[in-house]
Amino acid sequence: MAQRTRKTKASTIRRLAVSTGGGDAPGLNAVIRAVVLAAHRQGWEVVGIRDGYNGLFLPDQYPDGGLIPLTPARVRGITHLGGTIIGTTNAGSPLAFPTKMPDGTMAEVDRSDELVEAFKSNGIDAVVAIGGDGSLTIANVLAKKGVRIVGVPKTIDNDLSKTVVTFGFDSAVSFATECLDRLHSTAESHRRVMVVEVMGRYAGWIALNAGVSGTADAILIPEIPYDLDKVAAAIRKRGFEGRPFAIVVVAEGAKPKGGSHSVVEKNLGAAERLGGAAERVARELRAKTKKDTRHVVLGHLLRGGSPTTFDRLISLRFGAAAVRALAQGHSGVMVALDPPTVRYVPLAQATKRMKTVPRDCDTVRTARELGICLGD
Ligand code: F6P
Repeated sequence: MAQRTRKTKASTIRRLAVSTGGGDAPGLNAVIRAVVLAAHRQGWEVVGIRDGYNGLFLPDQYPDGGLIPLTPARVRGITHLGGTIIGTTNAGSPLAFPTKMPDGTMAEVDRSDELVEAFKSNGIDAVVAIGGDGSLTIANVLAKKGVRIVGVPKTIDNDLSKTVVTFGFDSAVSFATECLDRLHSTAESHRRVMVVEVMGRYAGWIALNAGVSGTADAILIPEIPYDLDKVAAAIRKRGFEGRPFAIVVVAEGAKPKGGSHSVVEKNLGAAERLGGAAERVARELRAKTKKDTRHVVLGHLLRGGSPTTFDRLISLRFGAAAVRALAQGHSGVMVALDPPTVRYVPLAQATKRMKTVPRDCDTVRTARELGICLGD
């Protein structure tokens, strides 16, 4: 349900700021365009904050200005472009900013009050925050501190609650599926096991949807810890049936039974970086099956390129809805897809719990019924 946290009249907004935070995702520019055009119709000036909130928060790093004027002319022709014209960052959250302490050590410090002050001193009356769980958690804190703010759910990982889907996910799944199609022919020609790692953090949505669509033989997701003896047995069985090759899709957050996911690094002010899951699975499968095995990491390729038609449309709808929400006096909410409509949900609810793959959901059941090994 919509939550009106403020009753401010739309006419009191003169200057609206847009921020894109976290990892980029196809559709960011489409959201920006919709926000700018819809806000222009309200008579509001729009500025883009460079690199998350850094343009405001770290002005010294931007000698040319941390705010980019966003006019209808500036956002012309960007709907189909990947990336974000205002930049983004997934390092240095204002809620846990890496800061040098008096004793010389570094620590994560909540500096959100400074950001609130920066909004005021730059005449920013309202904010559209486009991001995933990290950015929307920041938005929720800012809303509680009185900032008039509406969130837009972005992430290729699709791990945000309270929206049927986030923008960027469909583009990532479509590209991953195309890659699996391509890997089939080389796997078959060489009679190899191809282990393909996809992003998704602690949720297996990309791996599951692309794996089923791309007819993988095994799909390993964080929600179902794997036993590689089961996967090796499934690969051997295929061999006996005259199919001496296999495609194994591994979510970057997949983990063995009783084990944990593979982490590359963890820096102050940033989430831990996952990686190495496919390499680990490939190495162990090679030992167990004695088959020639290769691993491929699709990684950031899933974040690049043009948004699919589906993502373009929901991005444009989300951007327009965010302005509509502000114009109607809402704040502290996220726009959310609830077909056939877009509604507003409190940011506190949207960020409370990560949306992971239910082990008994229809797509998991479908995978099992198609004979795909899920490693359990
Ligand atoms: O959250 C989006 C995401 O693409 C995750 O799937 C992935 O773990 C992470 O970002 C990678 O981020 P980075 O840009 O730091 O490599």
